[in-house]
Amino acid sequence: MSATRAPTASIRRMPFDVEAVRADFPLLGREIHGRPLVYLDHAATSQKPQVVIDAVRRFYTEHNANIHRGVYALSNNATESYAAARRTVQRFLNAADAREIVFVRSTTEAINLVAATYGRQHVATGDQVVVSELEHHSNIVPWQLLCEATGAHLRVLPMNDEGELPLEGLVELLSPRTKILAISHVSNALGSVNPIREMAALAHEHGAAVVVDGAQAAPHLPVDVRALDCDFYAFSGHKACGPTGIGALYGRAHLLDTMPPYQGGGDMIASVTFERTTYAPVPAKFEAGTPHIAGAIGLDAALDYLSRIGLDAIASYEADLLAHATEALAAVPGVRIIGTAREKAAIVSFVMEGVHPHDIGTILDNEAIAIRTGHHCAQPVMRHYGLPATARASLAFYNTLAEIDALAAALVRVGRVFR
Ligand code: ALA
Repeated sequence: MSATRAPTASIRRMPFDVEAVRADFPLLGREIHGRPLVYLDHAATSQKPQVVIDAVRRFYTEHNANIHRGVYALSNNATESYAAARRTVQRFLNAADAREIVFVRSTTEAINLVAATYGRQHVATGDQVVVSELEHHSNIVPWQLLCEATGAHLRVLPMNDEGELPLEGLVELLSPRTKILAISHVSNALGSVNPIREMAALAHEHGAAVVVDGAQAAPHLPVDVRALDCDFYAFSGHKACGPTGIGALYGRAHLLDTMPPYQGGGDMIASVTFERTTYAPVPAKFEAGTPHIAGAIGLDAALDYLSRIGLDAIASYEADLLAHATEALAAVPGVRIIGTAREKAAIVSFVMEGVHPHDIGTILDNEAIAIRTGHHCAQPVMRHYGLPATARASLAFYNTLAEIDALAAALVRVGRVFR
């Protein structure tokens, strides 16, 4: 255990006990507008358990120092804690080596990093980058920028009306000119879970690299990058019960080793002269400047927390929440669920006849129910359904069936206001 890691003996193991889990999250006990908070916006950002808050606070109050720069004890402890956090991410993703984990700000930064380095190195005029219609803007725009800079073409894998990506579509799109398949593991707008392993196998037949946006998957289901056989996998700490401003990029070691750096600065070099600079080995090569040390330590605590509950237990409990939410919302007069993929994470997007999603969100807020409304940074998904926006309830292992019932009952009242 690192110097800054909290003692974890108090963290419970199975059987899954949602009330005990909720007690770990101080903010879930809050009242909003004088009513108990019902937080259903986990896909935007997760709430934080006390162990994460404590780990960050403990670092700043007892252990704060920069890493790699000190010969003194405090700095060495910070360095070791940062390295321990990297090993925790490695285990969380089942990567073969901690060198394959690069700390970044977020999934967005990770995808931009891959586009600007691997992409610039491997994608040329006339090549193709494949994304899907389901993607978040952060897994579209970096690839558009790459295509604009290189003269490559962006190809879009269509989804069906359920919000699934049929593999036949991918088979049709892939060609020897495909250099990259960039795909989300779980859609933030609809909750669809994509068949990454099968998609990766198809892309690899054509020699394309597979970049996975795991922002909505990592906190909800077990992720094994070796089983998925992807080349890159990115996720954000703040959606996985960790702090904001920290995320991780997994990349196969032999790819990271040969990629050019993303940003220049301190800590990413081996030697600097005005004539020539050589770079540090990975992952330092991709971590220029002082990193978010406290963020990495908080992420370590968060992943440790999730792992102790167990990603299988979380996925199974959330599947029950999703089934309940789907049934409860479908029974509300005027509600239509958008996104009905067979494989779904616990995200329910919906519209309501005659009511704008923003009005739904505002009225629910009066009842202390927090959901996201809008295009969810996935405008192509909205366009597929001819909608400007949806309302979205995104659930987590700390939500209860009673909270879903509260949402459904509030929606019935919303419907009455507009009828
Ligand atoms: N990407 C986050 C969401 O879907 C912000 O809400």
